[in-house]
Amino acid sequence: MEKFVVEGNTRLEGEVTVGGAKNAAVALIPAAILAKGVCVLENVPNISDVSYQLRALTEMGGRVRYLNKHTVEIDTSHVVDPTVPYEIASHLRASYYFLGALIGRFKTASVSMPGGCNFGVRPIDQHIKGFESLGCDVTIDHGMINASVPGELTGSHIYFDVVTVGATINVMLAAARAKGLTILENAAKEPHIVDLANFLNSMGADIRGAGTDVIKIHGVDIMHGSTYSVVPDQIEAGTYMVAAAATFGDVLIKNIIPKHMESLSDKLVKTGAIIEEFDDAIRVSRTEEIQPTNIKTMPHPGFPTDLQPQMGALLAKSNGTSVITEGVTDNRYRYVEELTRMGANIQVDGKVAVIQGVERLTGAQVRASDLRAGVALIIAAFMADGDTEIEDIHFIDRGYEDVVGKLRNLGANIRRIDVPDSPVSTAL
Ligand code: EPU
Repeated sequence: MEKFVVEGNTRLEGEVTVGGAKNAAVALIPAAILAKGVCVLENVPNISDVSYQLRALTEMGGRVRYLNKHTVEIDTSHVVDPTVPYEIASHLRASYYFLGALIGRFKTASVSMPGGCNFGVRPIDQHIKGFESLGCDVTIDHGMINASVPGELTGSHIYFDVVTVGATINVMLAAARAKGLTILENAAKEPHIVDLANFLNSMGADIRGAGTDVIKIHGVDIMHGSTYSVVPDQIEAGTYMVAAAATFGDVLIKNIIPKHMESLSDKLVKTGAIIEEFDDAIRVSRTEEIQPTNIKTMPHPGFPTDLQPQMGALLAKSNGTSVITEGVTDNRYRYVEELTRMGANIQVDGKVAVIQGVERLTGAQVRASDLRAGVALIIAAFMADGDTEIEDIHFIDRGYEDVVGKLRNLGANIRRIDVPDSPVSTAL
């Protein structure tokens, strides 16, 4: 086991380069199955969620080769077994994207129910509804989602009951190779949906409207290999933006798409941060104290739920009262308990958190409950007096490449240390 030790009263200063988007990469890797050929993905982040997706591919018979640190060659010509077992699927939500890709290519798939961060119940009914509309039989037996197509995979008109990133991606993958036209209504519009559509189109698919709430997919018989670069990570970028604003820092965040950051930039300005936009970079700095603000998370282009914990940490030290309303997930406030250990004053009632800013946070021993909660604790640790020790950092490694190196480069004193396994007590 490892943990982070983070020194408090830190000011971040300098430049940081953002990598490829986790939530795009974990969809693009299964998408490569749709082509019977070689795909090359560039700007692939070196994170554990990506490793699991690549492992799933190799266990099915795919061939994976790193051409350099961020470029992966994927050859799915030899995929033989359309199955993703529990040992892999249980590690991440995105393992269920293999369903859509395998259905598209093999008309059959068997994928263990996915794992991923615990934000309360995360149903998959909209994925199943979409697959069934395309002509699949879907059953769940012994924890496996089994899909097969008794007749032909056929395009269909699908209205999603909720805006869902996962189901939009999954059904898009299957529909890319269905017969005829599929129309997805009330589709999610996140940047990684657009990125997936662009990748699939570069492989010969015919998908229009990604980035709007109506996506039209004309199914094609054959898809070919392609070389494609993963879109920059909106959430990694946003995390460094919040960290700069929280630490009264001055940081240039590079290799990003400023348009993707608008909902966050707007909120950071309301807290008194200074934002300067460039073509593919944003500079965030602060000289004035942190002002409170209210946030409601929503599907894109609203404020992303994946940046809510980071903002919760920043607002914990504002000079007033802020209200956060979580509009996407059931329960994404598990980090609040840990911030409270550091002196924050936050009351949670269902989907609403009322944050009464405090003058002082103090370093403490805390635990990451999920990926974004983990980085929120790093931000809080920078704002605190004294050292903070953060446990369960494997969550952070799921989505942030070299977070220690990047933060140290900005002047932070953050270290990863080994924690010896605690001895099992035999005392009664
Ligand atoms: N939902 C349903 N039925 C479904 C699917 C979703 O009711 O069949 C509900 C969910 O319960 C949730 C809402 O719809 O309340 C949105 O879920 P969505 O499907 O959009 O989320 P996801 O695909 O499970 C992805 C990201 C999450 C991110 C959410 C929201 C990936 C791999 N994961 O999850 O990312 O929070 O979209 O933007 O893309 C993260 O990166 O830290 C992370 C958790």
